[in-house]
Amino acid sequence: MTTKAQAVMDWIDARFPLTSTYKAHLSEYYAPKNFNFWYFFGSLALLVLVLQIVTGIFLVMHYKPDASLNASGVPVAFASVEYIMRDVPGGWIIRYLHSTGASAFFVVVYLHMFRGILYGSYRKPRELIWIFGTLIFLALMAEAFMGYLLPWGQMSFWGAQVIVNLFSAIPVIGPDLSVVIRGDFVVSDATLNRFFSFHVIAVPLVLIGLVAAHIVALHEVGSNNPDGVEIKKKKGPDGHPLDGIPFHPYYTVKDIVGVVGFLIVFSFIVFFAPEGGGYFLEYNNFIPADPLKTPPHIAPVWYFTPFYSLLRAMVWPLFGLDAKFWGVVAMGGGVVIIAFLPWLDRSPAKSIRYRGPIFKTLLTIFIIGFAILGFLGTKPPSYAFFGVIPGAPVAQLFSLYYFLFFLTMPVWSKIDKCKPVPDRVTG
Ligand code: HEM
Repeated sequence: MTTKAQAVMDWIDARFPLTSTYKAHLSEYYAPKNFNFWYFFGSLALLVLVLQIVTGIFLVMHYKPDASLNASGVPVAFASVEYIMRDVPGGWIIRYLHSTGASAFFVVVYLHMFRGILYGSYRKPRELIWIFGTLIFLALMAEAFMGYLLPWGQMSFWGAQVIVNLFSAIPVIGPDLSVVIRGDFVVSDATLNRFFSFHVIAVPLVLIGLVAAHIVALHEVGSNNPDGVEIKKKKGPDGHPLDGIPFHPYYTVKDIVGVVGFLIVFSFIVFFAPEGGGYFLEYNNFIPADPLKTPPHIAPVWYFTPFYSLLRAMVWPLFGLDAKFWGVVAMGGGVVIIAFLPWLDRSPAKSIRYRGPIFKTLLTIFIIGFAILGFLGTKPPSYAFFGVIPGAPVAQLFSLYYFLFFLTMPVWSKIDKCKPVPDRVTG
């Protein structure tokens, strides 16, 4: 650095911890040297978060949260989205970046969570990173759900109607709670306005705060790695972990490779298949919301469907409470139970590399089951595989498996035959 630049840095450092923060979190933050493909998804989640915020800011410049009808009899909110798509210069790409970004966010976050399960990244001392992660996941679901109402299409309207109605199944407070959420007795302009407010400011603020906490917690304890070995236990004479390398430049450069790979796939979807075959943008949502016409089949967007299947799997009233209530419990419980993984898993090894056959088998079935639940959630309850195998009992079976996988984990994770875990990372 030139003496002038150094003098400027010294001036800043005397007033703000710039160099020390840069060192602590980048150039002297030691990360395990064996990060693989699965470690791209944290930085990609950050990238998509920024993308959603930036594209969102530009969408809000033209979008109008107004359910009243314009002179052509089209809801103003719906028409404002069409205006963005057709008349605002570059509006179409901003909108498709944002709508595809929502699906990309969930793809990246699901893979990021799966990595955590593969390598036991939620285990001691990373429990708080995981809990912040689960809260991020919940906030992300709320953010996506409320954003989906804004185009005020048929699916926006009826999806919100179905989901908000579920809250009325909660005993005692339920009916009032659903009115508070809607701001009305049905989904209406009041609902659109409050969802807009939550979607553009309240939930993004919570998300940014949670992501900051997630990363601060991560940097406090340091990253796990594909071997599940604690690199801080083996330090060299310089006090740095023997198996660690500075995050910058090694992982800043490596993460750029992930970003380029992601952008290639993402751009392909934005330019050639922004509707994602009806999975990213549902066809029914190109029809303006009509409170008098219920679509024949209401399905949430793909990233909610595994949990929607858990909800639909509960068809029996229990303990005097109706099936809808138990459905809500199953759906909510399905997300909340993820937060308890650090205490449910009792295996002596963290990483799948050293875990036994029980874990590998049960996890494989879990992933297949989760995908099948997701698929069935996009279909009507009457769906049958190949027209013969009814989908509903299959969804019930995998819903049961979903919960049993977690609830029985303290037992099977303890008795599973693990391989010895090495002292140092193996590469
Ligand atoms: C907006 C969403 C999220 C962002 C921006 C984000 C960001 C990050 C980043 C940058 C890292 C470090 C890089 C890496 O290890 O890949 C990380 C690590 C981690 N994240 Fe997230 N994350 C998000 C959501 C989640 C969720 C939903 C979970 C789990 C429920 C989670 C669990 C973890 C864990 C356990 C680690 C430590 C991994 C390890 O050390 O092996 N994250 N996250």
